[in-house]
Amino acid sequence: MLALLLAAPASAASFWPVTPQTPQARSITFLFWIVIAVSGVILFGVLGALVLFIIRYRARPGAAEPRPIYGNMRLELWWTAIPFVLLVGVYAFMVGEVRSETTIASNALDITVIGHQWWWEYRYPDNVVAANELHVPVGRQVRLTLQSADVVHTFWVPDLAGKEQTIPGQNNIWTFTAEKAGDYDGACSEYCGTQHGWMRLKVIADQPADFDRWLAAQRQPLASLPSSDSDAVKLFNDNACGGCHTVNGMSNGRVAPDLTHIGSRTTIGAGVLANTPENMTRWMANPQEFKPGSLMPNFHFTQEQARQMAALLEDLK
Ligand code: CUA
Repeated sequence: MLALLLAAPASAASFWPVTPQTPQARSITFLFWIVIAVSGVILFGVLGALVLFIIRYRARPGAAEPRPIYGNMRLELWWTAIPFVLLVGVYAFMVGEVRSETTIASNALDITVIGHQWWWEYRYPDNVVAANELHVPVGRQVRLTLQSADVVHTFWVPDLAGKEQTIPGQNNIWTFTAEKAGDYDGACSEYCGTQHGWMRLKVIADQPADFDRWLAAQRQPLASLPSSDSDAVKLFNDNACGGCHTVNGMSNGRVAPDLTHIGSRTTIGAGVLANTPENMTRWMANPQEFKPGSLMPNFHFTQEQARQMAALLEDLK
């Protein structure tokens, strides 16, 4: 276990849960270390005393039976008072930290995060909808409203913030402020079904100008809709893809990821495959091969049909 913990920073730098990159994550990490330190002092104090007493007061040949003791008021008061003060202290500290993390800045960017089996939906202001990759601006607080479409999931991006659950019928609020541009890996951290392990996400922190450009591009309807008599669009319609997926201007399904700008994302299937034309073709040929149990069925496309569908999707930028 210790070896695993020590190996973690080298093999998965951004996934080591205590490399905080935001004020909120730093404050959580600080609280974590405080609790670890207090617990460590108690653990080693108790174990040390135990070892000392075992050696010092061990039974010696010929020693008399020790005199029985029935309670010691002074000691009992001490070992009640010390844990009480420690716990109240840690609690007060924790309440302060929670308050500082949930203070919402007036210019905070509101994003609704909806957990689905097994992908993430993001709803930005002005009806911008994205999936799995959460773009945020550097230097501006993000206020996430966490919801669930089905079961309980937990949104977790270790470097940016702690964990918060998405619970059906409830809004949980969570905030973070990215300070450095870059990609931050995250995952669902609560078992939510067979593909829980492939409910990955990525937060992409952009410089404000880049973020504005991204948001404007997402807000745009598609520059040109694919021709409605193309083979791929016929496949899309004949297989009722639009019943689940939105492609702005073509369909408005709400149960599966919005595909309007799928071509601009880096992964397919919430992280299961890199988004390349070859992988998209393999995914279209049989999604169940890569994500068994997911709601995306195998349509038994021929190789040619899978390739046509992939080409259609990769063009949606
Ligand atoms: Cu969603 Cu685990």
